[in-house]
Amino acid sequence: MVKIIIIANWKMNPATLTEAKRNFEIIKKGVRNIKKVEPVICAPFIFLPVLKATNYLKLGAQDCFLGERGPFTGEVSPKQLKSLGVGYVILGHSERRKHSGELTELVNRKIIAALGAGLKVIFCVGSETKKPGKEMRYQLKTGLKGVKKQDVAKLVFVYEPVWAISTSKNKVVATPQEALKGGLYIRDILGKIFDEETAKKAKIIYGGSVDSSNIRGFIKEGKMAGGLPGAASLDPHEFIRMVKAVDES
Ligand code: PGA
Repeated sequence: MVKIIIIANWKMNPATLTEAKRNFEIIKKGVRNIKKVEPVICAPFIFLPVLKATNYLKLGAQDCFLGERGPFTGEVSPKQLKSLGVGYVILGHSERRKHSGELTELVNRKIIAALGAGLKVIFCVGSETKKPGKEMRYQLKTGLKGVKKQDVAKLVFVYEPVWAISTSKNKVVATPQEALKGGLYIRDILGKIFDEETAKKAKIIYGGSVDSSNIRGFIKEGKMAGGLPGAASLDPHEFIRMVKAVDES
């Protein structure tokens, strides 16, 4: 059975290690008997060594750099993450483009490095415009340069329209139909980069104001393989509700 994937993007939260440990433990208890969902917690780097992944609750990072080790002040390599039991890494998030000036060319090098180290990549694409178009095409084509067809299975694509992120200035919540359109657009581009078969099998999820009240709609009507909640995932009980809403449907 292919599991639905629900990925908590904690961003730069919570403020302390004590809270991070407490929230992780609450979630661990809450999702222990879940069958149809793979829950993943993407926590800040600094908390990763103490949050222990299990076979039913996976850990992810929110960024990584290139290579194994070396003169890269302030950076963390995919190999270092892997050595902590981290399974996933978010790359290409719009907040890194906006606040850290990250370019798609660098995202591409990070994707290659992360896959090389055995991490699964949560690759975010999306734009400010309502209709998915050339910006997303560019993100996908450039971001995936040099990625082998057989490695597409190690990627989770996130359609994350910037205008639907809960903290964006003019936030509008996307409808499942809009998520569906974004997903179809990604699949179409993947078909052109790789082939139809690879595109058909690609895992595409939705991000942007996901919570326990709307996640089922994105999965059912939006035909998404899961969700990437940010703000709503900061409350561990709300995250458990999201996972259960999907597991019980
Ligand atoms: P949000 O964030 O759920 O708070 O909109 C999602 C994200 O940016 O990953």
